[in-house]
Amino acid sequence: MYNLLKGKKGIIFGALDEKSIAWITALKCHEEGAEIVLSNAPVAMRMGEINKLAAQINAPVIGCDVSNAEDVENLIVKTMEHFGGGFDFILHSIGMSINVRKGKHYTEIDYVHNLKTYEISSMSLHRVLATCMKHDALNEWASVVALTYIAAQRIFPDYSEMADAKALLESVARSFGYHYGVKKHVRVNTISQSPTRTTAGSGVKGFDGFVTYAEKMSPLGNASAEACGNYCVSLFSDLTKMVTMQNLFHDGGFSNTGVTQAVIEQMEK
Ligand SMILES: NC(=O)c1ccc[n+]([C@@H]2O[C@H](COP(=O)([O-])OP(=O)(O)OC[C@H]3O[C@@H](n4cnc5c(N)ncnc54)[C@H](O)[C@@H]3O)[C@@H](O)[C@H]2O)c1
Repeated sequence: MYNLLKGKKGIIFGALDEKSIAWITALKCHEEGAEIVLSNAPVAMRMGEINKLAAQINAPVIGCDVSNAEDVENLIVKTMEHFGGGFDFILHSIGMSINVRKGKHYTEIDYVHNLKTYEISSMSLHRVLATCMKHDALNEWASVVALTYIAAQRIFPDYSEMADAKALLESVARSFGYHYGVKKHVRVNTISQSPTRTTAGSGVKGFDGFVTYAEKMSPLGNASAEACGNYCVSLFSDLTKMVTMQNLFHDGGFSNTGVTQAVIEQMEK
């Protein structure tokens, strides 16, 4: 422990169960001295798991469907009440593809569902930041991180409409990062994480084979959820103050690798 987040306060979205990247990051932030408000969609909260985490890190849980303006407004206001003013970081660890869930192929998506996917997975970052700006909820040099995936840049067929959703999410991080940076030195980044065995991850068809492929294609191997939590801590800390509007690959080198010896050997079998 380095006390990197001593005195810092923040909201962590998306802790569903103990495999969730958000869950693991919340534990890391707590270890580093942060005070946290946990949030998830009311439907996810009904599963009850999040209360275990809340007890462990002494954090309140405030329900919020990020596609609902009133919910987001309520969350930001209540969080400010809880902390007695502004706060210093946000983790957006939220993803949902309605078309994938309904088994619709990318070439035949339903556009109403598609809009909902974007609303939950991408424009929710905009909504959260806009609501924070309206209430002046984020302190000077606050840090906002959203989780994304390399399918925003390259085709991974089974990632389907989520690839487009992640591209939009990364764009919102850049665009809002500009405006919030100028206004209040708030930084906004995305972390592009290796495939990780979580509930959201396992929703992608052929996920297991894909995790193994990515492992073989990454010089350092796949980045774990644990390592992702550590990276989030570093971005919430004061040690990375000048990093903003970036898409940061946290993938063991996958994104810059053409092929590896391990993959060649597999192909020659
Ligand atoms: N698991 C992977 O392989 C992987 C790789 C790269 C990026 N990511 C991203 O990491 C983030 C976290 O996912 P995870 O892998 O920890 O899985 P997860 O299933 O544990 O987390 C996804 C969360 O999104 C929440 N959510 C869904 N709809 C919501 C709504 N309307 N309002 C509020 N919350 C809502 C869920 O309740 C859940 O807590 C996602 O953005 C995901 O796309 C995951």
